[in-house]
This record gives sequence, structure tokens and C-alpha cells, in this order.
Amino acid sequence: MKPILLSAAILLVVSTHGQVSLIPQPVSVKQPKTAAKFSLSPSTVIVLEGSNLDNVATFLNDYLDQVYHIKLNVATTSHSNNAIHLNFERMDKAVPGAYRMTVDNKGVYIAGDNETGVFYGMQTLIQLLPVQITNAKLQIPFVSITDYPRFAYRGMHLDCGRHFFPVSFVKKYIDYIALHKMNYFHWHLTEDQGWRIEIKKYPKLTEVSAWRNGTIIGRYPGTGNDGIHYGGFYTQDEIKDVVDYAAKRYITVIPEIEMPGHSSAAIAAYPYLSCFPNEPTKHPPQCAWSGDSTGKQVQQTWGVFEDVFCAGKDSTFDFLENVLDEVMALFPSKYIHIGGDECPKTHWQRCPYCQKRINDEHLKDAHELQSYFVQRIEKYLNSKGRTLIGWDEILEGGLAPNAMVMSWRGEDGGIAAAHEKHNVIMTPGNWVYLNYSQTRNEDSVTIGGYLPLEKVYSYEPVPAALSADEKKYILGAQGNLWTEYIGNEKIAEYMLFPRMTALSEVLWSKKKDSAGFAKRLMTQVKRYQLWNTNYSKASLNLAGLAPSGSMMLVKRETSKVKTVPHAGR
Ligand code: ACM
Ligand code: ZN
Repeated sequence: MKPILLSAAILLVVSTHGQVSLIPQPVSVKQPKTAAKFSLSPSTVIVLEGSNLDNVATFLNDYLDQVYHIKLNVATTSHSNNAIHLNFERMDKAVPGAYRMTVDNKGVYIAGDNETGVFYGMQTLIQLLPVQITNAKLQIPFVSITDYPRFAYRGMHLDCGRHFFPVSFVKKYIDYIALHKMNYFHWHLTEDQGWRIEIKKYPKLTEVSAWRNGTIIGRYPGTGNDGIHYGGFYTQDEIKDVVDYAAKRYITVIPEIEMPGHSSAAIAAYPYLSCFPNEPTKHPPQCAWSGDSTGKQVQQTWGVFEDVFCAGKDSTFDFLENVLDEVMALFPSKYIHIGGDECPKTHWQRCPYCQKRINDEHLKDAHELQSYFVQRIEKYLNSKGRTLIGWDEILEGGLAPNAMVMSWRGEDGGIAAAHEKHNVIMTPGNWVYLNYSQTRNEDSVTIGGYLPLEKVYSYEPVPAALSADEKKYILGAQGNLWTEYIGNEKIAEYMLFPRMTALSEVLWSKKKDSAGFAKRLMTQVKRYQLWNTNYSKASLNLAGLAPSGSMMLVKRETSKVKTVPHAGR
């Protein structure tokens, strides 16, 4: 399938100068002192010298077709110099994803240590293509590059629970991840406000849990309720299609099924999962409600809710194991994310089943009950060969033996987990929550927080507090996009860019170079335009967008300009 990113009607283009502008910055870029260039034209051939490289050629061809309206022939041999050779080689630096490439008078040569490396080399080739519209040829400067990533885990998350995004946008999101040489897509699929994954054994999860009768208007607690029946879900066929689409881009999709908290939507369909099936769903009195408010309901506002999965009843675990069976059949990922965050213990404290569990299992308190819950699920996942990931609350009451921790409430959870020799993904809100405002002058509704571009760029995922040995447990970091106030694709893109681009460099490149990044970002902005992608100009010196202008990151907001006005809920 084609990448579905790109619809800009673009003519043939040419670069104005020979300087390459790559993000993330490669380990080594050498440019000979020559004005000579490789001309990519419809007669250029992609030569697959290694096996199973068709994916790489297909992505390149789809990109060329959709941006430049060129499609290249693919062959297994060629003696011409007008060729892009894709090959395997043992790399000096044995890091997954390593590649090297040369562009010279013999053509383009890309070699990776495996398919992924070749794919990343091809992404670099894409960034060597010119970004300005002219009628001339596609010229690529001569260059020699060696490259490999700093971190093994370079992730992006998307919350499809608060707001639902169609498969077409999920694929676009995956393309964005690929174009930034990132390799994990964390798909947040269940929430209080909507359950988004078809589970055949539990049809009410999509008949009932996937829909809410309204949504608060504006920032919490809201100025009313829009009264709009809202929702959606992904069928299992759609999920298989997305997973396959991602795999062709060397991206692993990690599903997140929230438990024991953030489970109001599931409980609305199957009240027996609650400690108190007969108690109606509570919602904050200051938030306007739409429609029926008797019985269990899918939430219509944002926050943390007390009605969570009962940890005392075995029927809860039967349900979750059945759900996870279907999830594991759809997602080959070694990692399965079970949430674990923001689970109030108030119901557990007055639930006879939960109290009995605490007694029977000799647990000290409700925190240990949460730990029991997570460890029981971990045992199940491990028995199927999978590894559990949870938000850092899973440390409370004792960490499950093999769990990986996503540290979101700052870095302390990640540091504690690394001390305990557990793998960690850093995703601290103040550095990588891309749903935070990127300008203090934000004229739309956001969740709050302030995360300008330069702060994302300055992020260092490996805490200095760790010993040299513990540092190896930090596998990488991830940008999160929570969608309480991100109701459509254009706002999602606006929040992503350019901050996701900064994060890609944090995760790939060992050396920080903020002045260089700011300069290279100006070319990247032109790529956003080629992709027809929305982005924020809050951190860009707008004068710098002119080809001859100076380019810099600004330390304060200079503009509130953006292409799409926010209409946030
Ligand atoms: C989270 O932001 N509640 C993980
Ligand atoms: Zn209970």
C-alpha cells in the first residue's frame, strides 16, 4: 500500500545549494569539494542487491511518486551509473539500524546491516532530495554518510481513546514516525471515554464502549456539553492492516489496553467488571452531561475516575485474559502495554471482593492489590512470550518481575526502575508530552503545561543519577500525544510538528547541536509543506523561512500564527 501522506501537487524541483540538511543528524557526513551532483530522473533504476528489499524500494517509489510524480523501475542488477543500489553489509558499528551511503559518480549506494538499516539509508536519501519547486532535475549532492541510532527505542504514542482517529490518519502518523527514523508506535486503544479495538468475544465493547453521548465543550470542566454522539473503533481487519503497514516501515506497534483504571468505557458495556455493578457512573457535577445518566456510562469529560476494574473477582481476570488473547493475536509486538496509571483505590477499599483478595493474598494495602493485579496479568503475558509495559505507577506496591516501565511523572519512576534493573522508556511529561502548549500565547484549548521546541530538543533521556551500569536500562524515550483537546488531524499535526522532529534527533543523534538543528529545521519545514502537513510556527523565526533569511530557534514566542485555528473541545 502507498503511504497516504502526500498529496501536494509538486513540480520537478532542484536544490539551491549543495549543503545537505538532515534530521536526525547522522553520525558522520562528508561532502567532497565538488559541485558535481547525482541526477535522479525517471530513467534512474533502483537495484536490489540484497534480498527482501522490495519494501524499501516501494516506500521510496511511493514517496517519489506522491511528492515528485516520478516512479522508478526496480531491478536486481544494473551496470548503469544512473542507479540507486540497495545492499547489505556488515557495519563497523554493529547497532541495529546502522547504514552507510555514498552518492558519487557511480550513483547512489546504500548499505544497511539489515533491512531496517537500508530503510533508514533510504530515509536519508529522501532528505537529500531538493525541497524547492522549480522545473529542473532532482539533483542530489555527492556525499558519504555513516550512521546509526543512539537509542534502540524511539517511540511516538497516540491516544485514540479520548478522540478517535481514522485508519487513514493512523497510517499517516506511522509514516511520520518512519520519516523521522523512529521505530515504535504506541497505540493507546482504550480509555474512559472510548474503547477502540474490536474484541470478537465481547461485542458490546464496540457496540457500547466505543461511543459516548456527548463531550464537554472547552477546557475542563467545560462550558456545556456538545450532545454529539461520538466514537468509533478499529475492526480486527483494520488493525491487522495497520500492523502490517507499520511492519513495512520497520515500526513495531505496541497496543495499550488500560487496566485497572481508565476503564469506564469497558465497564459501561460489562458492569460486572466494576466492584459495584449496580452503582451508576459518577461524573463531576460541574461537568454538563448529555443523555442517559442512569447505570454505567461511557465518560463525557476528562480526568481520573473511581470506577475501575474490580481486582477481587476472578471474572475480571477472565475477561482481561480473553481480551489480551485477541490483542496478542493481532499484535506481534513483544511488548504489550497494560496502562496501570491513575487508578484510584477508593472502590477497592470498600469492595468485599477486593478486601477478600487482600486478605487471601496477604497484601498490605490497596497499592499491593494493584501490584497483585499487574503481576497476575504479567504472568499471563509472560506465559505467552510477551513482556508487560506499564506506566510508572506499576512501581507502587512492588514492580512485576519482568515489567518494563514508562516513566511519565518525571524521571523518578524510570530511575527507580533502572535501580531495580528493569528496562525503562522515558516519557516525562515536562519534556515529551506533545499535547502541552508549545507557546505561552496558545490561543486554543490545550491540556496546559508548557513545552516549547527548544525544551524538547534539550531533553537528555539518560538521567545523570544512574550508574554507568544502570544507564543501559534506559532503552530510549517516547513522545506522547494525549487527545483530550486534540479533536482532529490538523490539530494533531500542529501539536506534533516541529516538536516530534526535535525528539527524533534527541533519540537518534549522539551529539546535540541546537544551532545546527535550528538551521536544518528550516529545510524540514519545507518538507512539512511538501507533505501538506500542518505545523506550529511558534518556535520558528518566520523571517528565517525565506531561503536567504537567517534561521534560529527563538527563546520566546514571536508569533501565534498557525495554518489551522484551534477549535479545541
Ligand atoms: C499518563 O499520562 N496518565 C500516563
Ligand atoms: Zn472490587
